[in-house]
Order: sequence, then C-alpha cells, then structure tokens
Amino acid sequence: IDADRVGSVKQQVSELFKVSLGTVVPDQSDIEPLIAMCNNAKFGDYQCNNAMNLWSMIKGKSTQFKNPRSIGEAIAGNLPPSEMIESSGVAGAGFVNIFLSKDWIAKSIQKMLLNGIGVWAPILPVKRAVVDFSSPNIAKEMHVGHLRSTIIGDTLSRMLEFSKVEVLRRNHVGDWGTQFGMLIEYLFKEFPDWEDVGDQAIGDLQEFYRAAKRKFDEDPSFKERAQQAVVRLQGGEAQYRSAWTKICDISRKEFDQVYQRLGVHLEEKGESFYNPYIPRVLEELNNKGLIVESEGARVIFIEGQPIPFIVVKSDGGFNYASTDLSALWFRLNEEKADWIIYVTDVGQSQHFQMLFSAAKRAGWLPPNGKIGEWTDEELEKTAEAVGYGAVKYADLKNNRLTNYTFSFDQMLNDKGNTAVYLLYAHARICSIIRKSGKDIEQLKQTGTIVLGHADEQVLGLHLIRFAEIVEEACTNLNPNILCEYLYNLSEIYTRFYTNCQVVGSPEEPSRLLLCEATATVMRKCFHLLGIVPVYKI
Ligand code: ARG
Repeated sequence: IDADRVGSVKQQVSELFKVSLGTVVPDQSDIEPLIAMCNNAKFGDYQCNNAMNLWSMIKGKSTQFKNPRSIGEAIAGNLPPSEMIESSGVAGAGFVNIFLSKDWIAKSIQKMLLNGIGVWAPILPVKRAVVDFSSPNIAKEMHVGHLRSTIIGDTLSRMLEFSKVEVLRRNHVGDWGTQFGMLIEYLFKEFPDWEDVGDQAIGDLQEFYRAAKRKFDEDPSFKERAQQAVVRLQGGEAQYRSAWTKICDISRKEFDQVYQRLGVHLEEKGESFYNPYIPRVLEELNNKGLIVESEGARVIFIEGQPIPFIVVKSDGGFNYASTDLSALWFRLNEEKADWIIYVTDVGQSQHFQMLFSAAKRAGWLPPNGKIGEWTDEELEKTAEAVGYGAVKYADLKNNRLTNYTFSFDQMLNDKGNTAVYLLYAHARICSIIRKSGKDIEQLKQTGTIVLGHADEQVLGLHLIRFAEIVEEACTNLNPNILCEYLYNLSEIYTRFYTNCQVVGSPEEPSRLLLCEATATVMRKCFHLLGIVPVYKI
C-alpha cells in the first residue's frame, strides 16, 4: 500500500508543473510551483500561478517571452502528458488552469475503495514529531484549557499518525514546581503516619492543596520549612522523593480517568524528567554568551520583549523556563524531532515566544521557524467542533463546563454544523447502501465509477481532495480545516443525492460506489477527529 501513496492531488499536480517549469525556465531549477485550487470552477480545478512571478524575475533579460501571459502559455504547453489532466488553458495575466480528468478522478476513488483510505494519506516532510499537549499540573485541577489542549492535541496527533509521521505524544505535566515543598511539608506535619494510611491521608488533593497553601501564607516558620523541603526534594532525599511520588500518583489517577473517558492516549514526560538536563543546557547557552546577570537572576534578553527570560531565579533555583529550554534541547537532540508542536492556552504565548527566540539565538532552531499561533476565534471554533465528538465521553453532569465553553443546545443540534448532524448524515449514507441490498464489497471489485452528472463530478473532486486537506490541517496545525471539509462533504453529498437517483437507476452501481466512498472518507474524518461513528438510524 505504501508504494501506492502518491501524495495529495495538489502534490501530484505540483509535480507535473515542476517538470514543465524546468523546461520553460531551465536556469531556475529550484523554482517551486505555486498551485492552488481554482476559485471559480468554471475556469478549472487547479491553477498554477508562477507566470507573473517569473516574469518579474526575467523581464528585460529574456528575449523569448514578451509578457507574463506568454510564460503562462509556455508552462501550459510544456506540461508532460498525464492521464490526470483533461485539459489546460491560460487565463488573464498568465494563470494556467487545468481540469482534472473525470476518469482519473473516478479511478482514484475506486483505488481508494479497494486498497483502503491509507492510499490517500498525505506525504509530509516530517519523520518524527513531538506533540506536547494536555499537560495539567499535579495537585491542581485539570481545567477547561487543559481539556481543549487534550482534544486538539489528540486530533493533531491522529492526523500526523495517519500521514505516517512517528508521533511522540507528550504529557508535559507540571510535577516539579516549588509548590511541592509546601505539599510535602504539610503532609509530614499533618499526617506523620502518611506512609501507612496511604491515599486516605491526602483525600481530596485539591482541598489538601488549598489547606497547605493557607498554612504557607499564614505561618512564616512553615513557609521556611516548605522552602527547605523543595531543596531537599530536588537534592533527591529519599523521604521527600517518596512523598512527592505519592502526591503525583494521586493526581495521575485523576488525569487518567479523563483520558480514558476521552479515549486519548499520551505518554507522561513531566517537568521533573528534564531537570537533570538543565545544568548542561544552561552551560551551553552560557558558553554561547546568551545568559547574563540581572538583579541577581540569570536571564536571556530577547529583542522586542519588555521583560527578560529568567532561566535561573535569584535564589538559584530553576523554573518553568529552564525546564522548557531543556525539554526543547532534549526533543531536538535526543528525540531528533523534526516538528515540535505545543498545544497550550494563549495565556502562555509570551513564554513561548521568548523560548523560541532564545532557541533561535542559540542556533537550535532555524531563524524563520513558523510559529502556528491561533486567534482566540480559531481556538474557540476548533475546540468546539472537535469537542462535539468528545462530549459524548464527557461527564454530562459536569455543569461547570456548560457555562464556560460548551453549549449543549448548540452541540446537540441535528441541523447545524455539529457532530450530531454529521454523524446522522453518515449513518444515512450507510443505510442507503444497506437498503439497496447490493453486496458493496463485491461491487468494489466489479463496478466502475463514472462521473457523468455535474453533481457527481463535484462530489468526486471533493473526495479526492481529502489528502491535501489533511496535509493542510497538519501543516497549519489546524484541525478546523478538516471539520470544514467534512461539513462541506456532507452538503455536497446531499446535493448529489437530491439530484441523482441512486437506487433503481441505470447508474446505480457507480452511484453506490460514490456513496460508499463518501461514507469511507467521512469515517476517516471522524476517526481523525476522535469521534466514533454510529451506523444505524
Ligand atoms: N503545565 C502547563 C500549564 O498547565 C502547560 C505546559 C505546556 N507545555 C510546556 N512544554 N510548557 O499551564
């Protein structure tokens, strides 16, 4: 099956244009084809937009071309013969438009039905990716921000995994802050027999946290002992270490319940994991002259930032920043990740901007690395859309969420752009196939898809775009693109189904295969979004 992976349609179109561009401008061998979907289906399915750029580069130097349009004509004329392309033409200032061959689209869909949707996995320029997501903090509640991160991070991971990227799903839990001194000291003081009574001593961990914090704020001598406890914990003293392990275990159990309900798997590598790496990482940055003294702390100044990036506090302790620097170093050098994706709330954007700037100054990251930042609105939309599926797993009694992000009324609306509507649309397609009484597996082997009707052609074109949509969602780190594709698919399908009789028509075999292809693609979308499809209606 892997040999059948040809990349997305856009990638394949791009390959053809690359050949043509190589003939038209042989001295510009590294030129990348600029390929886009045509805005207006009247002109074509895809277009190549290189002619205008090329013209501004060679204007005055070339006698061969007199304007951008003549370059466009040469690009169209030099396209290698391919069964993909039905026709090509040049429009306006030099846009090269192509129409895909309907037979080729039909064959591509049939190949997918026979060999599985894996043949439509996009080819990404990434071998291994770290996805840092969920990442709640020990002894604190997992709030709705962590929930979103969990849902979005899981979907990004699923899309990358589908694209055959090796994904390291990392739970960067906050298990190493100064709060542990306070918690441990409180445990020792209030529950001297904590080792024997086990979890019962702590009971509700959040309540335990609040009580310890009260004591910390009110009692100066407790505060002092708590601060010493951190040092002893970080120095590795056995008693402190084992109390820390106990506290982490209680939180871990709570988090795992949430992951189980959501059907999300991830591997914990908490802040404490990176602690041993901090000294040598800071030494490297120090040797590069990045770290300076400022008001007793050790810091990295970042251009354009009002505050410096503190990497060693004035009391000599390490912090969130030094941990993230070490985690980044580890992911780049030990795990050899090509992509590192952080899924956190926007509240942390300054921290990450400083982290990435520091890493660029150190030469760890390429200077122009793209940071995929989301607007609040995008975040909101994606979390909501993806959350629809996850909500089934969520505890419906948990009203706290209702007020915060979710509207159950909206979510459960079976007419709007919701998981409920989409799940219904999918189930309906399955029932059409079922009720036709035809053996669809046999039909896949013997039937032929023919895209005759205009609405069949639109559906076919939309289906084969699946790979490039996943590709785009992965490169923009935005699963929302996939949600939109899925919603459009169900609308385009509805139009097809309204205008093209399926069961009982002469085109029945071909149309049933189109239904099956639509259902197959929808199911893959659900799967990538962490939604479990239903079949019967
Ligand atoms: N524990 C952090 C929080 O709850 C999120 C961690 C995000 N990941 C990271 N590498 N800093 O805010």
